[in-house]
Amino acid sequence: MQILIWSYFDLLIFFMLIAVVLAADPYSDALLSLKSEIIDDSKSLDDWKVPSEGNISGKILACSWSGVECNENSTIVTSLNLCMKNLAGKLPGKQLGVLTQLAGLNISQNSFSGEIPVEIFNLTNLRILDISGNNFSGRFPRGITSMKNLVHFDALSNSFSGPLPVEVTELESLKVLNLAGSYFDGPIPSSYGSFKRLEYLHLAGNSLTGKIPPELGNLKTVTHMEIGYNFYEGNIPWQLSNMSELQYLDIAGSNLSGSIPRELSNLTKLESLFLFRNRLTGPIPWEFSRIVPLIDLDLSDNLISGPIPESFAVLKNLRLLSLMFNEMNGTVPESLAELPSMEILFIWNNFFTGTLPKNLGMNSKLRWLDVSNNSFIGSIPPGICAGGKLFKLMLFSNNFTGNLPPLSNCSSLVRIRVEDNSFSGEIPLKFSNFPDITYIDLSKNRFTGGIPSDISRALKLQYFSVSNNPELGGIIPENTWSLPFLQNFSASYCNISGNLPPFRSCKSIIVIELRMNNISGSIPKNISDCHSLEMINLASNHLSGHIPKEIASLPSLVFVDLSHNDLIGSIPVEFGKSSSLVLLNVSYNDISGTIPSKKVLRSMGRSAYIGNPELCGKPLKSCSNPINGKKLRLILLVSAGAVILMAAIIFGLIYRQKGSKGQWQMNSFIGLPQFTANDILRSFDCANSMEELPPYSGAFCKAVLPTGITVLVKKLEWEPKRVKVASESITQLGSARHMNLIRLLGFCYNKQMTYLLYDYLPNGNLAEKLRMQRDWGMKCRIMIGIAKGLCFLHHDCKPAIPHGDLKSSNVIFDDNSEPRLADVGFKHLMQLIKGTAPATSRLAAGESNDCIKEELYEDIYNFGEIILEILSNGRLINGGASIHGKPKDVVLREIYHDNEAESTNSLQEEIKVVVDVALLCTKSRAVDRPSMEDVLKLLSGLKAKGK
Ligand SMILES: *[C@@H]1O[C@H](CO)[C@@H](O)[C@H](O)[C@H]1NC(C)=O
Ligand SMILES: *[C@@H]1O[C@H](CO)[C@@H](O)[C@H](O)[C@H]1NC(C)=O
Ligand SMILES: *[C@@H]1O[C@H](CO)[C@@H](O)[C@H](O)[C@H]1NC(C)=O
Ligand SMILES: *[C@@H]1O[C@H](CO)[C@@H](O)[C@H](O)[C@H]1NC(C)=O
Ligand SMILES: *[C@@H]1O[C@H](CO)[C@@H](O)[C@H](O)[C@H]1NC(C)=O
Repeated sequence: MQILIWSYFDLLIFFMLIAVVLAADPYSDALLSLKSEIIDDSKSLDDWKVPSEGNISGKILACSWSGVECNENSTIVTSLNLCMKNLAGKLPGKQLGVLTQLAGLNISQNSFSGEIPVEIFNLTNLRILDISGNNFSGRFPRGITSMKNLVHFDALSNSFSGPLPVEVTELESLKVLNLAGSYFDGPIPSSYGSFKRLEYLHLAGNSLTGKIPPELGNLKTVTHMEIGYNFYEGNIPWQLSNMSELQYLDIAGSNLSGSIPRELSNLTKLESLFLFRNRLTGPIPWEFSRIVPLIDLDLSDNLISGPIPESFAVLKNLRLLSLMFNEMNGTVPESLAELPSMEILFIWNNFFTGTLPKNLGMNSKLRWLDVSNNSFIGSIPPGICAGGKLFKLMLFSNNFTGNLPPLSNCSSLVRIRVEDNSFSGEIPLKFSNFPDITYIDLSKNRFTGGIPSDISRALKLQYFSVSNNPELGGIIPENTWSLPFLQNFSASYCNISGNLPPFRSCKSIIVIELRMNNISGSIPKNISDCHSLEMINLASNHLSGHIPKEIASLPSLVFVDLSHNDLIGSIPVEFGKSSSLVLLNVSYNDISGTIPSKKVLRSMGRSAYIGNPELCGKPLKSCSNPINGKKLRLILLVSAGAVILMAAIIFGLIYRQKGSKGQWQMNSFIGLPQFTANDILRSFDCANSMEELPPYSGAFCKAVLPTGITVLVKKLEWEPKRVKVASESITQLGSARHMNLIRLLGFCYNKQMTYLLYDYLPNGNLAEKLRMQRDWGMKCRIMIGIAKGLCFLHHDCKPAIPHGDLKSSNVIFDDNSEPRLADVGFKHLMQLIKGTAPATSRLAAGESNDCIKEELYEDIYNFGEIILEILSNGRLINGGASIHGKPKDVVLREIYHDNEAESTNSLQEEIKVVVDVALLCTKSRAVDRPSMEDVLKLLSGLKAKGK
């Protein structure tokens, strides 16, 4: 090990010597010096070096380096492009003095931090400066006026604070100004209306306050203006209507009130107008029909009233019309159906009445229609699907009637939600025509004619509900359970008869609800195939035969209701061994024998067992001592109450998606657009954007916010008195940002629960991919990535944050296959919420907390186990203890074999290093384990240190 560290340092010194002795020209010297002062963990600037023979050409050596551009004779460095090179540290200033001829400097998408060096303003020839996507902080320094030639200045997504820089208005050539996504506060300076050539102005997502200055109306050259996601007061100044070149205007999420100025209709070049999520009142000005180029109009989530203007019939370019979450009423103008470009129409959650336009869908390629939660009547327009592109159709919670034939050939559909209406007739969906359908909700209607028998051909179906169609009838089609992705099948209260079809290959199903039907026959034994089953409700049918013990052994089972059937035999003892079971109800059958004396079964209470005269044992009467009739009646009464209560609690736990008490509050972190609690709740409420996952998985699901951002949402319940301390703890987690951690974007909460929002990364976790063959470089890259994330938590966060639950399923891959740690600090958070940790935040408790130290050591142990899993392609799981029990050469030989390294000496050397690290990390005495800083140093010696 020591040898490795030495050779690493030797190498460093060697390179430094080369740099000092051999560099030739001042440009290259300056760049090498720059490189030496910044952090380049990915070795992106590895080719920045001087060849051993020195610079003999007389030209600038740096011209051949990555990211460096020169003039044609290689005598001047003209631009530097270091975009996305994983660079970090403070940006040094003094070397910039040498690069005075630079016309372009792009250091975007790195992790530079600290203040921006004022020397940068001495680059007076610069035309393009891009520092976006870094973490520069502090007030924006004075001096930018010396960059007289600056045309394009992009500082999007940093952590600047204080007022917006006023000096930029003196830059006469400036065309693009982007200061969005920092913490700039105070008002927009009124002098921002004095730019002469500005075309693009982006100030969104800061903490700006005050009124929007009417002077912005003087910006006659601006075509694109985004100033939303701030906290202004007052209304939209009508003077903005003077911005005669404006094509794109976004002032969403900005706390604006008052009505929408009708003068804005003078913006006759406008293509996109976004004013959603404000507190705007009054009607939509009918004059907006003058904005003929309008393509996207989003006024959703305001307090807008009145109708959709008839005059919109002339907006031939309109593609998106979003008016959802307002207080609009009246009918939808027939003329809206004539618009040839209309693709997305969102008008849900308003007070609209009447029928949908009868030609809707006939004249455009309608893709997404959502009119849910209004008071519409009448039938589905016959041509709704005529454009051949309709993929989401949301009509739920209206009073539509008629039947579904307009949908029977609509093969583009992915999602249909028509629940809670008055539809009737047969369900005419031919599932072989629906190759992409994933979600169908037909519940709470008056359908008849049974479930279509070809449902098993909807190969992508995940969610199907037809519950509460009392006259549906028919049977459950034969191969329903074997649909490869089906997670939820609900058909309660549907007058279904026949037997339960066998559960052959029902591997994906999670929820089965068939309450209140006429199903007979026995429960098939091969229910044991349904490994994922968590909830099954077969109550109030005519099922007979025994309760198969196979159902009791299902690994994830939470909820089983078999009450009110004709089941016989005894209660399988296997239920008593289940660690997941929360509710079992077998009441009102003909079950006999003794209730197995297991704690979990007793905890169900009497209500779970009553109504079975031959059944005895705790919690019912003991098997030898019958009790008298009066007492029994009392027990029955009490128990019935308990059944209802218990069921209510369970259903509440499972299905409750929205708290009933307490104001929702939202907290979002660092340079991101501000979401409101409303956004989050809304994406759940209508499950509209809750892609692919049935409500049952609500504890952890993907949600698409109305702004189009996809997030992963995790739900936690908490008690009012824990809110403060837990939210402090979440805030601490939110401020820990590192490229090997999943970003916590924010959280919204009320007194009863909180939703945590994380970056959504769809590429799977390490546990799923352990057995995948990887080359050694890739393995090193994963191990080092995890180590970096952990090292950051342990050493760079003050106080240190223990991960608390480090395991391979908590290592998620991002788009670049870089590992990121998930669930950071989550275990501690749960303890805070449950009250098993002291109700003081760790910030207050300080660093010397022994309990934290314990957890840090545990993280290190778990890290050791993870690298064993990676080394052995998943052969060694929890192998920390076992590898200490084996001779080291045996362990090594097996791991060489796992990595096909039997005959490669250099690879064996590296594997040995990593196995040594694993052995150190998993030492049984915690204090003997190395710190993560040391671990990272040891691993940095690996040559294959992956790229
Ligand atoms: C490049 O060199 C040639 C000849 O040496 C000269 O004519 C030309 O002006 C130079 N160009 C630049 C941009 O310096
Ligand atoms: C810019 O350059 C001038 C001389 O060219 C020097 O006096 C001044 O200190 C420099 N400013 C900064 C901020 O480096
Ligand atoms: C709209 O523009 C027209 C001329 O283009 C002008 O006469 C009118 O006053 C403007 N209206 C508003 C409200 O600014
Ligand atoms: C819409 O609401 C307004 C205000 O509540 C009411 O005066 C008007 O009559 C309503 N219009 C329709 C068509 O219901
Ligand atoms: C729905 O419409 C039917 C008649 O079409 C009517 O009887 C029923 O009351 C309506 N329901 C609601 C909730 O308005």
